[in-house]
Amino acid sequence: MTQFWRPGAERPQILDDEEGGVLFYSAPQSSSSSGFGYSILERLRKRLPVYKYKTAIQFLVENHATTIVVGETGSGKTTQIPQFLREAGWAEGGRMIACTQPRRLAVQSVASRVAEEMDVKLGEEVGYAIRFENVTNPDTTKIKFLTDGVLLREMMDDPLLTKYSIIIVDEAHERSISTDMLLGLLKKIQRRRSELRLVISSATIDAKTMSTFFTGSKKHQGLEAKDDKLNMTPAILSVEGKSFTVEIHYLEEPVSDYLQAAVSTVLSIHSQEAPGDILVFLTGQDDIDAAVQLLTEDTRSHGKNSGLSILPLYSGLPRGDQELVFSNSPRGKRKVVIATNIAETSLTLEGIVYVIDSGFSKQKFFNPISDIENLVVAPISKASARQRAGRAGRVRPGKCFRLYTEDHYVTQMAVEGVPEMQRSNLVSLVIQLKALGIDNILGFDWLAPPSPEAMIRALEVLYSLGVLDDDAKLTTPIGFQVAEIPLDPMISKMVISSCSLGCSEEILTIAAVLSVQSIWMSARGAQKESDELKRRFAVAEGDHISFLNVYKGFLQSGKSSKWCSQNFLNYQTMKKVVEIRGQLCRLLNRLGLTLKSCEGDIKAVRKAVIAGFFANACRLEAYSVNGMYKTVRTSQEVYIHPSSILHRVNPKWVVYHSLVSTDKHYMRNVIAINPSWLTEAAPHFYHFQKPNYPVS
Ligand code: CDP
Ligand code: MG
Repeated sequence: MTQFWRPGAERPQILDDEEGGVLFYSAPQSSSSSGFGYSILERLRKRLPVYKYKTAIQFLVENHATTIVVGETGSGKTTQIPQFLREAGWAEGGRMIACTQPRRLAVQSVASRVAEEMDVKLGEEVGYAIRFENVTNPDTTKIKFLTDGVLLREMMDDPLLTKYSIIIVDEAHERSISTDMLLGLLKKIQRRRSELRLVISSATIDAKTMSTFFTGSKKHQGLEAKDDKLNMTPAILSVEGKSFTVEIHYLEEPVSDYLQAAVSTVLSIHSQEAPGDILVFLTGQDDIDAAVQLLTEDTRSHGKNSGLSILPLYSGLPRGDQELVFSNSPRGKRKVVIATNIAETSLTLEGIVYVIDSGFSKQKFFNPISDIENLVVAPISKASARQRAGRAGRVRPGKCFRLYTEDHYVTQMAVEGVPEMQRSNLVSLVIQLKALGIDNILGFDWLAPPSPEAMIRALEVLYSLGVLDDDAKLTTPIGFQVAEIPLDPMISKMVISSCSLGCSEEILTIAAVLSVQSIWMSARGAQKESDELKRRFAVAEGDHISFLNVYKGFLQSGKSSKWCSQNFLNYQTMKKVVEIRGQLCRLLNRLGLTLKSCEGDIKAVRKAVIAGFFANACRLEAYSVNGMYKTVRTSQEVYIHPSSILHRVNPKWVVYHSLVSTDKHYMRNVIAINPSWLTEAAPHFYHFQKPNYPVS
């Protein structure tokens, strides 16, 4: 059993009330309602900490161009602030209130919650938009939740975001790449639209830095507000929430397998601790599914009525399963939610008393030298660990079990995470800024500037794709077309090229499949069976072409869920693929591009893939016994991922879609190519060198 260090009376670890203290305005209204005659939801709303600040928020937003709201997770910022502002009249006269989130799942979840609270149909007065899904009504929507990425896209058609009277940038502490970019752009917009109000809301943020960032704009430009009464200095409001103490337990000895440790900790809490729900933080779908399975098996093998209700929570989860985590556990059962860091601040789960923190999350890391961007499981920061622990103290004093030692916490964990901007591939960011007419990217007003190496690398990639010209401006028409498609620029380039190669029908299917997480069901414990089923769709050319067979089969089955489960395919994901494909078709039509099928001429499809992904070409090492490839561009050692159709087939030349790194760099989604196609598609990038030795 996992041994935890038990805090003795002499070493209590109490969660302090965050940095807080940056309170400049605090005149809480006493909530006036008697609660009589209100629905339960209405009563719950009024109990939220943020409710006491309703008039304060309305007042500050009226009088300040920017308002920064800091408050504990669960205090009601996301669900209530948009409603307060609507009540204050900000959504009248055809204007809208936008509230951005870094995560898609949170967008859908809070939008449906707010619609429910307002007793309206989702998609009417309250709507949401995420990539490839727009549930709003242009005539009636007043509050719109959307990802920060989608709002950035909207700027391409409406650079000043004139539809919105207020933009709430929520979860700003997450510092997603899109949030950072949005903040820089909103600062610019504010100079042109002095009536626009910004609300920046977050669980923990260095409010002063944020405030300085937004104060700078006025001085910098020497502008004064047109409206005399409007204060250009950001207001900072700290929402004091009620949270209970959380007792922290560390491991006595480090463990090698946090998954196993998490499972045994759930079981020991269940057998030893008082009632109360458990929230476990793991890193992603894989380990969450594994933990759910282990817990389910354990309880089943003991033949006992476990009394546990085990629920996963991650972004790829079908909608119905997402809703389950918010419902009360069945009578007499203890709810165990096993989540990614989406439950850290984006979503509040009620009733959690115990938190188990693995100490890890999946994070993006980009190396501009090797040009490899990776999603790796890495230690979280102290700030994250504190947030995770805080989830246990919402309803009453709770406990947090950290699956690492106190020494690890003190010496190994960073104080704060590095903003995504500084550890990402910037290709998508650069193309979007270019499309918005921002040419001096290095001189852009960044909250945290990205590294010049990563910037230059992104410019190089876009130049090689033919998206940027010698003056680093978007090319016509390719550059502008690629920028219009809301996909990774390499995929967009593949799509655009397929139109001239006469295989856009096929490439759209491939692009749609590459845009979802994975079409296959996770095959833990049934790897062999799943591999066999997968091979039914396999073609020698590789994964991309096999997707075409899967898609065809799905349509032929009448989009049947039974067919999907028989073939180890994820039905929800397949439905999503059909939907995304439809959206892409409409987009291409709008761009005036032709849809055409190559009628089985697979060579055209492969050439289109190369048009986007030529930079990812690899060559099998001569005499390699273990399938080692080297990337042509940087001679990086890579291998074909076991999930690929081409695993063990090892064609001499391949192009991959992405790399994942565990013990080695693995290529995922691989296609076999003819090397002469590389020079044909990208003569500026590749050329053949005559060998300086005789070829027999
Ligand atoms: O944004 P913040 O973390 O401050 O709080 P919130 O997301 O507005 O949550 C306020 C309350 O609404 C919490 O009690 C949540 O549990 C509840 N809520 C919910 O029940 N279902 C949702 N989909 C979203 C929020
Ligand atoms: Mg929130």
